[in-house]
Amino acid sequence: MITTSKRLEGIGEYYFSQKLREIDELNKQGKNIINLGIGSPDLPPHPDVINVLQAESAKPNVHAYQNYKGSPVLRNAVKDWYKQWYGVELNADTEILPLIGSKEGIMHICMTYLNEGDEALVPNPGYPTYRSAVKLAGGTCVDYLLTAENNWYPDFTALEKTDLSRVKLMWVNYPQMPTGQLPNQQLFQQLVAFGKKHNILICHDNPYSFILNDEPASLLNTEGAKEVVVELNSLSKSQNMAGWRVGTLCGAKERIDEILRFKSNMDSGMFLPVQLAAAKALSLGKDWYDSVNAVYKQRRMKVFELLEVLGCQFSRSQVGMFVWASIPAGYTNGFALSDEVLYNAHVFITPGGIFGSAGEQYIRVSLCGSIEKFEDAIQRIKKSRN
Ligand SMILES: Cc1ncc(COP(=O)(O)O)c(C=O)c1O
Repeated sequence: MITTSKRLEGIGEYYFSQKLREIDELNKQGKNIINLGIGSPDLPPHPDVINVLQAESAKPNVHAYQNYKGSPVLRNAVKDWYKQWYGVELNADTEILPLIGSKEGIMHICMTYLNEGDEALVPNPGYPTYRSAVKLAGGTCVDYLLTAENNWYPDFTALEKTDLSRVKLMWVNYPQMPTGQLPNQQLFQQLVAFGKKHNILICHDNPYSFILNDEPASLLNTEGAKEVVVELNSLSKSQNMAGWRVGTLCGAKERIDEILRFKSNMDSGMFLPVQLAAAKALSLGKDWYDSVNAVYKQRRMKVFELLEVLGCQFSRSQVGMFVWASIPAGYTNGFALSDEVLYNAHVFITPGGIFGSAGEQYIRVSLCGSIEKFEDAIQRIKKSRN
């Protein structure tokens, strides 16, 4: 008999990978499901980005393996981008590591720092990959609770009362997914101070800072941050390049070198034309982000309307690529509401419970759909409830 490794015990297939199969099955039965689940931008990157990819990939000398640390052109573009938008100074040679999407970086960080039995703080609710990457690396997840009452920020007083002696990493992500909560300076200062006090590496995952937000912020722009912080960033969301798989890790030289020791054994770099096109994408000006956000703003209004039809409550000041909403009385949890809407109205919305137990009374709706799609979804839901 062929058996899987012990490290896969307790690790299921990724929720969306499973759910998309179920949706495919329903589509094969002619149900034509409207999928408002995943945060995968439906609009293309800027045309100049596509032009660079086309022109570069037509050249004869760009098809070889690439540098493990990424093209200097891309690293310099990340450096300039961090300086321009976040006010953070980085050394392009030593403090930036391009990634094949930030998701792989989450795994690399866990594999680089966690030994069997080491603990990592993970947000509840939070992006499920933090949890699975910690477990796959042999670590133990210690949830820290985020609540609406505490602005979806960690409760540092509660954390200080717990035994932190085995904690090596803390996963944080602001603007927060799934709650859409923005960070503030005080939160960032508290995180850096907490990391220093307890010798914990603060791993900030920052893919949503430009979406519906005019003041993108980096945790690295906090005094003393480089001593205890690494930051992941991504071109998936704000540059509409999710399928291209380009992200970046920024931090102190020592951290980049340590993580590269793991990563350079996992892959052999990214296709150079993709890296050059990504560099172009990072050089886009405010017009680009404004145009992306104008679209999301309109869509968000439609999603608010949809959530009102469902009787949900939500904050209108949340940012990012989703709207997070608490479910009305009468449903056991978000899974029950999501299933009802899927099977009766043929619209898929994400149950908040997949982000952790603290998300169970919530649902999350993605803004990655056309206005017509949202209008259609609203009509379907209204009709299914008559
Ligand atoms: C919080 C968070 N981090 C990371 C990612 C992954 O981004 P990437 O496409 O760069 O791997 C996502 C994608 O949904 C996300 O929501």
